[in-house]
Amino acid sequence: MNTQKFYNIVTFGCQMNVHDSEKLAGMLVSLGYTETQDQTKADVIVFNTCCIRESAEQKAFGNIGATKPLKKKNKDLIIAVCGCMAQEEGTVQKIKTSYPFVDIVFGTHNAHMFKEYILNKQQNKKKSFEVWEDKHEVIEGVETFRTSGNNAWVNISYGCNNFCSYCIVPYVRGREISRRPGDVINECKKLVNEGYKTITLLGQNVNSYGHDFSDPEITFAKLLTAVANIEGDFRVKFMSSHPKDLTSDVIDAIANNKKISKSIHLPVQSGSNEILKAMNRRYTVEKYKSQIDEIKAKIPNVSLTTDFIVGFPGETEQDFEATKELVKYVRYNNIFAFMYSKRRGTVAAKMENQISIQEKRRRVNELLALQKQISTEIFNDYLNTIQEVLVTKTCKYNKDKWVGTTDCGKTVELSDNNYQENMYYTIKITEVKNNKLKGELVK
Ligand code: 5AD
Ligand code: SF4
Repeated sequence: MNTQKFYNIVTFGCQMNVHDSEKLAGMLVSLGYTETQDQTKADVIVFNTCCIRESAEQKAFGNIGATKPLKKKNKDLIIAVCGCMAQEEGTVQKIKTSYPFVDIVFGTHNAHMFKEYILNKQQNKKKSFEVWEDKHEVIEGVETFRTSGNNAWVNISYGCNNFCSYCIVPYVRGREISRRPGDVINECKKLVNEGYKTITLLGQNVNSYGHDFSDPEITFAKLLTAVANIEGDFRVKFMSSHPKDLTSDVIDAIANNKKISKSIHLPVQSGSNEILKAMNRRYTVEKYKSQIDEIKAKIPNVSLTTDFIVGFPGETEQDFEATKELVKYVRYNNIFAFMYSKRRGTVAAKMENQISIQEKRRRVNELLALQKQISTEIFNDYLNTIQEVLVTKTCKYNKDKWVGTTDCGKTVELSDNNYQENMYYTIKITEVKNNKLKGELVK
């Protein structure tokens, strides 16, 4: 008899959720389960949900609903729903009423209890619907089964105190708490020793790391430098930043340390001061531009990306024009543009002058078209530049040729072949064609 047990985890949303899923996977692996991509083979299916926009919620409910026939076929199948959507008021009730075949629901604050909920179902046939309000403490030592190749995600803080008026995150992830620097550094050392080539530090707002400690010496700039100074050939990345808390010491740390990625994601949300104020972002366009100027001056080869929300309540055509102006000013490597989505319980949900879906769609398409032009021009700027490239695998079409990824995530095909897998090399870009890069080793 085949006694092997399988799990399948479906993850929605951001990198924080991707990493949370790695911890859930770790717990399942420790219980003897093996991963499967095939839901029809699974003994446990987990939906790690997101609620940042309405579309993410609809997708999650659609996916959960689709497992009903599987449960009919296999009565022992365990279905669990967790993550940000589970933490929202009303979700547990909605699941009990409309998706009664779900066995386990838990929130973001009690995810470390998942193993117990599974055992309770396996051994006692008991369902668990448990969502904690907030736990106000960091839980260390949760097993992790990493699934992100040579990149390792590392939490440095949880939660958010900013309450941007459109955002549901502070309501479902709770107040910001930082991990102790020693715990972060020890985890990173272990990961470097295990051979991970990129360490990505995670927080809703990494720049306010340590603000909850009484020791003013604990700062994000110092943590970032300490991680980069761990011995070994790897790079450090981080996400996400908030311009209001980005200080010059962080920019200096990036500029001065070869091992810190020169790829910075700095979400701005809008190019209009009126909208930034209504969003409760607590910086002005002028302040943001001066930060961009400082970054570009200190880190000449920087690659910048950002997030925009278009169609925020009351956004006029003039406000939208200001956003386009900012895109032209900064010349981002890439942008993520979202249509504003009303989130229950947030301040902006109650604002007047909500923008129609047609108008939001027009603005998002216009903004993305503008960025596409800039991205193409930036691709051409790569010609003859020197890039740090992580060589990862041989080319799909020609096994003698190697392929790697630049610091800002662009793929480079290499024309020579003196490489080893999973190593960093200094590469000169020799050809740019149809948004594709080719390069060769710098001797
Ligand atoms: N509607 C649309 N986009 C949103 N974001 C956050 N909340 C909303 C919302 N209510 C976007 C922001 C943030 C990114 C992760 O998601 O741009 O930076
Ligand atoms: Fe949401 Fe603002 Fe916190 Fe980011 S900083 S998670 S956008 S409230």
